Amino acid sequence: MDDFDFDTQAVRAGTQRTAFGEHSEALFLTSSFVFGSAAEAAARFSGEQQGMVYARFTNPTVSMLQDRLAVLEGGESCVVTSSGMSAILALVMGTMSAGDHIVASTGLFGATQQLFGNILRRFGVEHTLVPATEIEAYRRAMRPETKLVFVETPSNPLTEVIDIEAVAAVAHEGGALLAVDNCFCTPVLQRPLELGADVVVHSATKYLDGQGRVLGGAVIGAKSVMEEVFKFLRTAGPCISPFNAWVILKGVETLRLRMEAQSAAALELARWLEQQPGVARVHYPGLVSHPQHEIAMRQQNGWGGAIVSFEVDGGRERAWRVVDSTKMLSITANLGDTRTTITHPATTTHGRISLEAREAAGINEGLLRVSVGLEAVSDIQTDLARGLL
Ligand SMILES: Cc1ncc(COP(=O)(O)O)c(C=O)c1O
Repeated sequence: MDDFDFDTQAVRAGTQRTAFGEHSEALFLTSSFVFGSAAEAAARFSGEQQGMVYARFTNPTVSMLQDRLAVLEGGESCVVTSSGMSAILALVMGTMSAGDHIVASTGLFGATQQLFGNILRRFGVEHTLVPATEIEAYRRAMRPETKLVFVETPSNPLTEVIDIEAVAAVAHEGGALLAVDNCFCTPVLQRPLELGADVVVHSATKYLDGQGRVLGGAVIGAKSVMEEVFKFLRTAGPCISPFNAWVILKGVETLRLRMEAQSAAALELARWLEQQPGVARVHYPGLVSHPQHEIAMRQQNGWGGAIVSFEVDGGRERAWRVVDSTKMLSITANLGDTRTTITHPATTTHGRISLEAREAAGINEGLLRVSVGLEAVSDIQTDLARGLL
């Protein structure tokens, strides 16, 4: 499907039909597969013969999603997992050993910070957090044992934009892989592998599904790296349910339409928020006032994405008032849905990280994150205005 346009790939890449000739992708609910003979079973298990074996690591519906996401991100291969976090876990377990080191950007998703800081450390993998947008800080943090540079751009929730090409150069000088969490942009807005990254990770729970229904994750990159990630998945089993894979396949079909519509609405909302009394600062890469606006426009296909964060005067009390005054917006930690959601990061998604780390990342008590959906922007504005007055 490489010669086809993105829109065509999003609808058709990876599709395989059974002998029944079904038009829509089939959902294979089976935990195992049968073999024609003992010899065939042995050949499948050893990998001598391609084909399905057992649903922890092979399932046709899951394969279709893997092939589609690999094409959309422009990668050789993809491994789909049960959630975004298990995708990140599979990447590090597949590529790192005790004694290795990770350089990561501040402002990573809270659970990613927990994974690097509290869990991997117990297994002898250290990490250093560097200010997300300071390229020289990545260079200074590199050690001979650095195997992975991990960034999230735009960052969650402050939408800081990291120059992927520049960080890729630093990672490669130091002999490390660069992994980009492309959850906020999706391949519609940003294709990190084309900018020099080695690996892309996704929480498919977000825009890839796009309708807040299921959890899923993906790791995409060169075959050599994905083979190691796959070995971890095959053995440890953080596999996606075929049902979830099927739902995400359907979600991906409308990915570009949703991403562009939600990004356009987010830009309108961000411009409006900048004018509101009581709003001290708006973080949105599509605004000219955003410190990395130019990089964002170059790297994100001209779009700012659909996440807008803003700081209100009056700290937590005022921020909670805005949240509690909404009547339509969903108060939930999820993002990337067709329904607009509102979150107070300091007490929810980023509540488990230390106060110092939170302050270093710039996540203060007055900060709110809005994931802009497909409702009319005027209705979102009315809902937010109530608490801002
Ligand atoms: C940027 C980012 N990466 C990873 C994750 C983890 O994904 P999941 O919730 O599917 O495990 C999230 C979840 O919110 C996220 O926002």
